[in-house]
Amino acid sequence: MTVLVLNGPNLNRLGKRDPTVYGSRTYDELAALCRHTGADHGLDVDVRQTNSEAVMIDWLHEAAEAGSPVVINAGAWTHTSIAIRDAAEMLTAPLIEVHISNVHQRQEFRHHSYLSDVATGVIVGLGFEGYVAALGFIASQLDSDPP
Ligand code: DQA
Repeated sequence: MTVLVLNGPNLNRLGKRDPTVYGSRTYDELAALCRHTGADHGLDVDVRQTNSEAVMIDWLHEAAEAGSPVVINAGAWTHTSIAIRDAAEMLTAPLIEVHISNVHQRQEFRHHSYLSDVATGVIVGLGFEGYVAALGFIASQLDSDPP
C-alpha cells in the first residue's frame, strides 16, 4: 500500500524558512524521515512537494483513484483553497492534515482550515513528529482492516 505525503507551497524551503517557527531541518530530511517511518511500518511512502495548486489537485485526484491514504500539509492553501478541499473530499482512505507549527498560536488567518472537517484527523504543532504520528496512525488503520 502506498501512502502519499503531500506538501504544499514553501515547504521546500524548510531549514531556511523562519527556523524559529519551522525548525532547522530541511525538506530532504523531512522526506527521509517519512520514508523511514513508512518502512518501519511496512508502508511504501511517496513524499512530494509542490508550489503549484494545480499539481496538488492532480495528486489528490490520483490518490482518490488509487484509494491511497494521504498525509497532507497544504501550507497556506489550507487557509485559502476551496479547490483543494473539494479534491480532498473525494478521498476514500484516511486523510491526515498536518501542520509543523501550532497554527492556533499564530495569526488569526491561520486558525481556519478548509481541510479539517473533511480530514480524518488533524495534527498541529508537533514539528516533523506530526508526520511520524500521522503515518503511525495510517499504519494502525491498515493493520486493523479485514484481510
Ligand atoms: C504550515 C502552517 C501554514 O499556516 C503555513 O502557511 C505553512 C506551513 C505548517 O506546517 O505549520 O506554509 O502548514
